[in-house]
Amino acid sequence: MVRMGVIASAPAKVILFGEHFVVYGEPSIVLAIDKRAYATVDRRDDKRIHLQSANLGFAGFFEDENFKVEKGDAKEARMRFEAIKLAAEKVMKTCGEDVGLNIEINSTVPVAAGLGSSAAVIVAATAATGSLLKAKMSREDVFRIACETEKVLHGTTSGVDPAISTFGGALLFQMDTGFKPLEVKADIQLVVGDTGVQRSTRVQVEKVRGMMENYPNIFESLQRAAREIVLKAIDIFRVKDLVTLGELMNINHALLYALGVSDESLEWLINASRKAGALGAKLTGAGGGGCMVALAKNERTELVMDAILRAGGRPFIAKKTDEGVKIEHP
Ligand code: MEV
Repeated sequence: MVRMGVIASAPAKVILFGEHFVVYGEPSIVLAIDKRAYATVDRRDDKRIHLQSANLGFAGFFEDENFKVEKGDAKEARMRFEAIKLAAEKVMKTCGEDVGLNIEINSTVPVAAGLGSSAAVIVAATAATGSLLKAKMSREDVFRIACETEKVLHGTTSGVDPAISTFGGALLFQMDTGFKPLEVKADIQLVVGDTGVQRSTRVQVEKVRGMMENYPNIFESLQRAAREIVLKAIDIFRVKDLVTLGELMNINHALLYALGVSDESLEWLINASRKAGALGAKLTGAGGGGCMVALAKNERTELVMDAILRAGGRPFIAKKTDEGVKIEHP
């Protein structure tokens, strides 16, 4: 008999407003998008936690705290798998189990690109492990475990990525007050452009911390402006004013540029999409490479995609999804 294990999936995300500033307690607006990570989890007969990721090309297992690589660079594979293993262990703890697991990751989300690929993977693996072991876990529990384990990968994080991967939809997220579903009435057509430049969230977050420490007063002004942008955007979502939404994205990008988290590859794609008629464009996520996002009227979408392609990026249309983490099988 072929055992398939439990499969869970979770969506990637696009931060529309407030990345980085959200780490300092400011609000942010984030959408779940129609690209998902899948985790298949099954029991093993021994105590190993075996992981493999088809798209990363890594495989290996943890046994008694030691990691043995089977495929790919050992250091890199361990770094990527550590958080997933930790999440699985936390799930086991909640239900008093201590078993070996096979965890297989398949993802359509570009890696290290600002779309929350690692959070989506951790959330999917947490939910699949919970379901396999019949742990009584709510979505809030999945979110909490994913939040705790994501820090192993990225250092200081706000929790916005695991929140959107768990709950889906559009969220207004703030560290101290948590998240609120946001009603988005406007038909938002988002074009994402991947620069193809992989970068580390941890490094970008640390860069911003340096900026905050060196220029506290300037940072505070930028922070205040970022807050105002989010507050204004909440109103704008209600009245479907896409032109203002685009302008707010441009202003938000200027703040991120000031923080030093844009780079040449992003600037090329952002400028190209604005020239092609996008209403607004900004980097999304941690920056330093990774992805940008443009807002365009339907009739301009093709032109914006074409401009991103010609500027050296990989464009795709991102559609909002309401589906957060989900058990796909059984
Ligand atoms: C990363 O997707 C978003 C950051 O604001 C970090 C975080 O909030 O955890 C850069």
